[in-house]
Amino acid sequence: MRDALKIPKQGPVIALDGPAGTGKSTATKRLAERLRFVHVDTGALYRAVAYVLRTQGKWRSGDTEEERVAAEELARSIHLEFRFDSALLPMNRIYANGQDVTDHIRTPENSLAASGVSSLPGVRAALLGLQRRLGCQGRSILEGRDIGTVVFPDADVKFFLTASPEVRAKRRMAELQAQGGDLPSLQELQNQIVTRDQADASRAVAPLKQADDAILVDTTHLDLDAVVELLAKKVHERLGPIS
Ligand code: DC
Repeated sequence: MRDALKIPKQGPVIALDGPAGTGKSTATKRLAERLRFVHVDTGALYRAVAYVLRTQGKWRSGDTEEERVAAEELARSIHLEFRFDSALLPMNRIYANGQDVTDHIRTPENSLAASGVSSLPGVRAALLGLQRRLGCQGRSILEGRDIGTVVFPDADVKFFLTASPEVRAKRRMAELQAQGGDLPSLQELQNQIVTRDQADASRAVAPLKQADDAILVDTTHLDLDAVVELLAKKVHERLGPIS
């Protein structure tokens, strides 16, 4: 980890952390397009590790030591790579050992596995150097949970997005409705969100927590355009005009 932190940054790095349902992913994508920065979706790395483990039959619920050891081993040996559809538009595709896994990593089963995999210290340590290298290439926005605290404590601008559990549950419901299929109740979704927040904030390694120097953005009463506008304004205030 110390070596990874020594890689010098080639340009500005923006860290954007926060829990799910705060509009973080879409806001990061839009901000990256607007500033012409590269968007690094660090959650996709944990999701790709989980997906490969599952396809190899090495991960079921993550309850056994064998599964945890397999996850840490795979995270150390896997080759993960983002490929961009164009140099300027940050349309990320993620490749694991040369295979495009982008369309497989966001299923509910894989989300659950990614959450388990991401709680393992060995997995987090194995993915740290890669995240650093991706960010150090310059003009990058890294989106995740521990970017401003662990991966880039030296980020040039740090944001932490929040929103009330009620609003996050409503946003998640809208996503599920768009996907079709069975729908849980709003109260169930809200309970899941609160439980997951508690687990994320209290886990031993890299808990979800706002960096002391991060700008807190509460998106409860803001639509996407307003969030992106606010983020861009803050970036310009901190970094000056970006050509
Ligand atoms: O942001 P996401 O939902 O795609 O993240 C997938 C999982 O990985 C989620 O359980 C949180 C975890 N994660 C993490 O622990 N640290 C990060 N920097 C990014 C994601």
